[in-house]
Amino acid sequence: MHAMFQSVSDQPAVPISFVTRSSWDTIRAGLPEAAQRFAAAAGYNGKPGQYLALPTAEGDIGHVLFGLDEADAKGHDPFRPGALPGLLPAGSYRFANAPHDARLAVLAFALGAYKFARYRHAEPSAVNLVPPDGIDVAAISRTAEAVALARDLINTPANDMGPAELAEAAQALAQRFGAAFDAIVGDDLATRNFPLIRAVGMASTRAPRLIDLTWGDASHPRVTLVGKGVCFDTGGLDLKPSSAMLIMKKDMGGAANVLALASMIMDAGLKLRLRVLIPAVENAVAGNAMRPLDIFASRKGPTVEIGNTDAEGRLVLADALAYADEEAPDLLIDLGTLTGAARVALGPDLPPYYTNDEALSLDLARHAKAEHDPLWRMPLWAPYDSWLDSKVANINNAPSGGFAGSITCALFLQRFVEAAKSWLHVDIYGWTPKSKPGRPEGGECQAARAIFALLSERYG
Ligand code: BES
Ligand code: MN
Ligand code: ZN
Repeated sequence: MHAMFQSVSDQPAVPISFVTRSSWDTIRAGLPEAAQRFAAAAGYNGKPGQYLALPTAEGDIGHVLFGLDEADAKGHDPFRPGALPGLLPAGSYRFANAPHDARLAVLAFALGAYKFARYRHAEPSAVNLVPPDGIDVAAISRTAEAVALARDLINTPANDMGPAELAEAAQALAQRFGAAFDAIVGDDLATRNFPLIRAVGMASTRAPRLIDLTWGDASHPRVTLVGKGVCFDTGGLDLKPSSAMLIMKKDMGGAANVLALASMIMDAGLKLRLRVLIPAVENAVAGNAMRPLDIFASRKGPTVEIGNTDAEGRLVLADALAYADEEAPDLLIDLGTLTGAARVALGPDLPPYYTNDEALSLDLARHAKAEHDPLWRMPLWAPYDSWLDSKVANINNAPSGGFAGSITCALFLQRFVEAAKSWLHVDIYGWTPKSKPGRPEGGECQAARAIFALLSERYG
């Protein structure tokens, strides 16, 4: 159980009233006289995000007010209560009335209490929430722990989160849930035919590897998750400017998120056969680094010309996707921090997804909305496929011009998927640039909760 839901005191829980500007008058009228006067003196009017602790006659905190947005056409942020763990003093609290979505409010509470404390002591949150009736606290705990796992993996700097450490994290997860774990490391990538993973990873002193985790009944539907595990992306010889390189420890965000998703799947015991493949590499600069216009064979066969060494994510995913595709899974899903173009198109908080499976697309859009884990469909626009043509190889990894960069990346990956019954690709950002309620600045879990909800519906 998440620490947030473990009771810390035997004092009765302090009620939290959620207020909107329009409900404030009614809620105020129900408060004791003194509390009404205190709220007026403090200038409280229930504006979104506004917080006020009302004292008892003895001077303790007797009641908390917290402002929410109106549930109008402009929409509201169901994660707004995620600001409360950062505002409330230590103690035990309960909801006095229902926020817009009680389940998401409780989840936001747990997600808002997250702290990255590996390198600097941070007191764990001493705010305890007594969840409202009818809320599946076990499910919320599971989700919050998975989100914290993804955030911790991303936030850990690259010096402590290289390919080996990422593999250790996957192995620890496998052990926890009795999954099988394997890794193909270094030169074995060449002998076992993963030329692109090796080409990207070989310039680093830290050996590249393909992490392979399997779990569940072999007779169940096969779901395979592939995550981009670039532990640091310098850009390679096409070196990134320092401003762009700064947060590239997050370039294993796809891997972190498929591990979070795998954790939720295994913890919930979904009826599926799970496989997780993570190509874990560091895109480094050295004398043996791949060069612009080098050409490599891929696992699947087509030769790939390196138009840009900074388009490395699609290279490692190509070999991993081809490998996944060999067993023709029922559902093949890849997540990765693949393009700056995705952020230009939709910003950091709304990852684009790509699929040709219409039913899957509709289901995913619905769950993304319901989970407040937003995703937006973009097209596998076939007319742009020819932009990937190379004059000397079968395909180029970085079409010149740079138009529709997230789409052309998706089209590149599509060339390596053939036998899977259904394929979904999500181009995530994996990072919250500026803190928002329930979403502290830094590594972020994106798409995993929405996909988990979809898988729960199908295989629960
Ligand atoms: N990891 C980056 C993409 C990225 C950059 C994600 C910034 C989030 C924020 C990826 O490996 C990359 O460098 N992509 C290039 C591709 C281009 C060279 C075709 C990009 O997006 O510029
Ligand atoms: Mn790159
Ligand atoms: Zn990258």
